[in-house]
Amino acid sequence: MTAQTNRQFLLAKRPVGPATRETFTFQHVPVGEPATGQILVKNQYLSLDPAMRGWMNEGKSYLPPVAIGEVMRALGVGQVITSNNPGFAVGDYVNGALGIQDYFVGEPTGFYKVDPTLAPLPRYLSALGMTGMTAYFALLNVGAPKAGDTVVLSGAAGAVGSIAGQIAKLKGCRVVGIAGGKDKCRFLIDELGFDGAIDYKSEDVVAGLKRECPKGVDVYFDNVGGDILDAVLSRLNFKARVVICGAISQYNNKEAVKGPANYLSLLINRARMEGFVVMDYAAQYASAAQEMAGWMAKGQIKSKEDIVEGLETFPETLMKLFNGENFGKLVLKV
Ligand SMILES: NC(=O)c1ccc[n+]([C@@H]2O[C@H](COP(=O)([O-])OP(=O)(O)OC[C@H]3O[C@@H](n4cnc5c(N)ncnc54)[C@H](OP(=O)(O)O)[C@@H]3O)[C@@H](O)[C@H]2O)c1
Repeated sequence: MTAQTNRQFLLAKRPVGPATRETFTFQHVPVGEPATGQILVKNQYLSLDPAMRGWMNEGKSYLPPVAIGEVMRALGVGQVITSNNPGFAVGDYVNGALGIQDYFVGEPTGFYKVDPTLAPLPRYLSALGMTGMTAYFALLNVGAPKAGDTVVLSGAAGAVGSIAGQIAKLKGCRVVGIAGGKDKCRFLIDELGFDGAIDYKSEDVVAGLKRECPKGVDVYFDNVGGDILDAVLSRLNFKARVVICGAISQYNNKEAVKGPANYLSLLINRARMEGFVVMDYAAQYASAAQEMAGWMAKGQIKSKEDIVEGLETFPETLMKLFNGENFGKLVLKV
């Protein structure tokens, strides 16, 4: 095994603004041998997530920052090729924090097995993985939609937003997506069955909300923050729920994050805004994934993956998330 090479992206410095190729060191090292309790995994698909940009920053967050010189953190799926851990056997497929590299060697903390005969491997990073779990728990537990509610989502054609919007449709809601560009807006209505779409790149979002949400907004599932959050706050209903799932428009800011100017709408409407972190629900992933798989088998939820091939493309591929070039869950095929 040691004859084989492991290509790795290490965090070289903390970026100011967007991450670039210079943010990372790309190195070739021999594949290590797993010690007692450890496993060796051949990585196959790696999940590229907006949160990775936050993990590059110093400071307190829901996870410690990636250290300088450490392999860039990433979830992924791969196959066990050596195991010194009784919980995993050679040949098992696993989902875990594999990192941006060809091979993972280490303790499989938080890893779980997946079955490639039940679903294609990339799907365990989209609807059946952390992305789907985010959509499921953020919408149902924090957004708490009721039939007849109007649910608005930003980043609606993205990985999390597209799944959350479809779940809201299943719950009998009027669902309106905010996305960038005509193709993504058409996809929301024609492919996913949303009731309305607002193209924030070519129309005024407040005007779009007036048109698509004549009865106001009961649940806002926010993935982008910034001006779009402010626009939706201005249209909230009495007792509305605002789910702070993400704020991708702010992640590359060189200045301080822009907070919402319209927050007094929460007071006027006795509404609430609540932050969400998917890891808090890890104990319930298995049952939620089972329900998600059932909806997918019945054709009620569609999952779209955007797969880019080549570990070496990582820095440029990651940037697709921040300029809207991904269409579906962004996955790197190793
Ligand atoms: N809290 C949690 O536990 C948790 C877990 C997973 C993900 N998240 C969050 O969920 C959000 C979506 O993640 P994802 O993995 O599903 O990514 P994604 O939506 O598949 O991709 C990101 C999308 O964000 C949109 N975007 C980028 N810059 C923007 C800007 N300045 N203004 C408006 N939209 C912008 C782009 O879509 P357009 O083409 O439509 O602009 C882009 O395609 C992120 O904020 C992420 O951090 C949170």
